[in-house]
Amino acid sequence: AQLAVLAGLNRKLYFGTATDNPELTNASYVRQLSNTLDFHQLTPANSMKWDATEPERGVFNFTGGDQIVEQAERHGQIMRGHNCVWHSQLPDWVTAGNFDNETLLSIVENHCGTLVGHYKGRIYAWDVLNEIFNDDGTFCQSVFFNTTGTAYIKTALRAARKADPHAKLYMNDFNIEGSGPKSTAVATLVKELRAEGIPIDGIGIQSHLIVGEVPTTMERNIKFLSETGAEVALTELDIRMTLPDTPALTEQQTKDYDTVITACKNVDRCIGVTLWDWTDKFSWVPGAFTGQGDACPWDNNFNKKPAYFGIVKGWLGQ
Ligand code: G3I
Repeated sequence: AQLAVLAGLNRKLYFGTATDNPELTNASYVRQLSNTLDFHQLTPANSMKWDATEPERGVFNFTGGDQIVEQAERHGQIMRGHNCVWHSQLPDWVTAGNFDNETLLSIVENHCGTLVGHYKGRIYAWDVLNEIFNDDGTFCQSVFFNTTGTAYIKTALRAARKADPHAKLYMNDFNIEGSGPKSTAVATLVKELRAEGIPIDGIGIQSHLIVGEVPTTMERNIKFLSETGAEVALTELDIRMTLPDTPALTEQQTKDYDTVITACKNVDRCIGVTLWDWTDKFSWVPGAFTGQGDACPWDNNFNKKPAYFGIVKGWLGQ
């Protein structure tokens, strides 16, 4: 029983993983990344972000993104594009440009249109908007919000739709796994946009979780978000712990992966799950949280951990 096969048996569209360009030089890593029994979908962790794709105004670079798309296509894996507009990993020319409303909107339109257009027909879904809310449900004070208010949201979505009419357009965020003000804010905005005829097709629930702290409301909340009319996906799943790992933490992590997969499984419109890389060797966690790690279902040596079998158990429903 392997992860993508089991997701398919549960009528999910895909089970997949993030990957990053430097990792593609590791042959054993690439062998497992290409294993379509486990992964039917890839997301680039960095190479489609703004700093990588438009480092200078109007100068686009798709080298890294193309490499990941080609890697996926060689194995018939579908792609999630990540991402069009985010306040992080933005080049200085955008953050420090001091553009007026009209100019910044045209920059957003051009960036989204060119990026999404470059990959037209090759990307299942785009995270058009990444992390636009604060935890209290207010809008993030990004250069985009500070300059344009919420206008950039519509501009980005419309430009993406125009550039690839068949790609699903997502709003992607963290800390919306359980019920709360941020999840409510996402649902409210998605409903408003849909009512206005602004194209938005999906909500990405990142799911960077902590061992023992999976929100008890997760399944109910996934259903709540899907009741906006948008589809829902778990887009960046990992479950980190404070090191060192112990048998108790391992056991809890295995249960937590089972709980999260079960929550998606039980909501029809939760269409897929993506790991934020499958191996601890290339996880973003130790670099971002000192003393934490072991968040992925495979260890540093590419061996399956009990967490892997927690995912299997979730899909099997035993
Ligand atoms: O490109 C430089 C390289 O030139 C330099 O030598 C190296 C030295 O540290 O840093 C490289 O940049 C790093 C970049 O990843 C590419 O590897 C940054 O320092 C590092 O901060 C950056 O981290 C990424 C992070 O987003 C940045 O916010 C992670 O790899 C990536 O997994 C992570 O992904 C995000 C999602 O996009 C959104 N949701 C949260 C998720 C986890 O933070």
